[in-house]
Amino acid sequence: MTGKRLDPWGKGVIEDYENLFKEFGIESFDKYQERFSDNRYVRRGIIFGQRDYSRIAEAIDKKKRFAMMTGLMPSGKFHFGHKMVADQIIWYQKMNADTFICAADLEASVVRDIGLQEARKIAIEEYLTNYVALGLTEKNLTFWFQTDYVVPYYRFRDQLSKKVTLNELRGIYGDDLTTGKLFSAITQAADILHPQLKEFGGSRPTVVPVGADQDPHIRLTRDFASRFSGEYKFIPPSSTYHKFMSGLSGGKMSSSDPSSHIALTEDPENARKKIMSAKTGGRATVAEQKEQGGVPEECMVYEMLVYHLVESDKELLEIYASCKAGGRTCGECKKACVERLIAFLKEHQKKRKDAAKTVEKILGERQ
Ligand code: TRP
Ligand code: SF4
Repeated sequence: MTGKRLDPWGKGVIEDYENLFKEFGIESFDKYQERFSDNRYVRRGIIFGQRDYSRIAEAIDKKKRFAMMTGLMPSGKFHFGHKMVADQIIWYQKMNADTFICAADLEASVVRDIGLQEARKIAIEEYLTNYVALGLTEKNLTFWFQTDYVVPYYRFRDQLSKKVTLNELRGIYGDDLTTGKLFSAITQAADILHPQLKEFGGSRPTVVPVGADQDPHIRLTRDFASRFSGEYKFIPPSSTYHKFMSGLSGGKMSSSDPSSHIALTEDPENARKKIMSAKTGGRATVAEQKEQGGVPEECMVYEMLVYHLVESDKELLEIYASCKAGGRTCGECKKACVERLIAFLKEHQKKRKDAAKTVEKILGERQ
């Protein structure tokens, strides 16, 4: 009997990433690390796991067609944890992936009780606008809302229900499976597989970059791909898994708790305050810090640098080493982080203002 279940709707922090390999059959990303080392998240082990990534690596290397598909749950502010997904989407788009992005307004409405109108607004103003400011373009892009799309998608989604039993769904999602969760799970499988229907470009390798909590959906979807092999020619979707960023005080980073995150629309002065009071891996006094060094592994400021603010590995290593050796105080270090952060936020917020036109083009009549 397996111990833990991954809960895609849970609030948990995943503590033991190693366990995901043993328990769920997620494979390590290690063997692709060198090939895709241009990506900061790959290089730094933040993208740590995958299923069937060889198909994607091959498609990229041989310049064959492939798709990237992922979704967003529009439930609040777009913060630096979400930026990780956006950066990956844009990375694949630049590698010529047919890019599919789903705004999971149905899921937000039936599982989180967020009104559809509200979910749509959040999806556009928070997610899509920030994606564009970060570099997403309308090239090869399909962006849709789960509640507002085209007939072949719905026709396909509803067919999925005939190849899974309630007991299987309970096995994957637990006994507190609700009708809303059931709809969300089946809709998510349609999100992931429909790009391979003939109306959307036909069979091709598809990569789904997600946080590890989404793996139950990936497993279900991959099962559907094989169960429908008589009717369709699906290539089982590939996936990658990234680690979650920690919240500023060490727990979970959550969009519903403003003190745990910095939004990409955050007022720079507010952002400064948040960094200045973030949890660090520093010692109680400057003297102790000099003597024993800090613990960057437990430092939220360092985490911001690793995930987002320092591109150069050499520079990052220098910061790490000097922290360990007691060569920097947390006060100075936070100030340096704030400088980088504010420069980023100002630039990004300027880009957000220029994003409107592209956002409009992407939405088309779907405004
Ligand atoms: N369930 C995802 C979340 O909570 C959102 C989502 C909807 C999604 N459809 C998807 C993710 C398809 C990946 C692929 O964030
Ligand atoms: Fe974190 Fe910097 Fe303090 Fe080290 S010196 S613990 S990296 S804030």
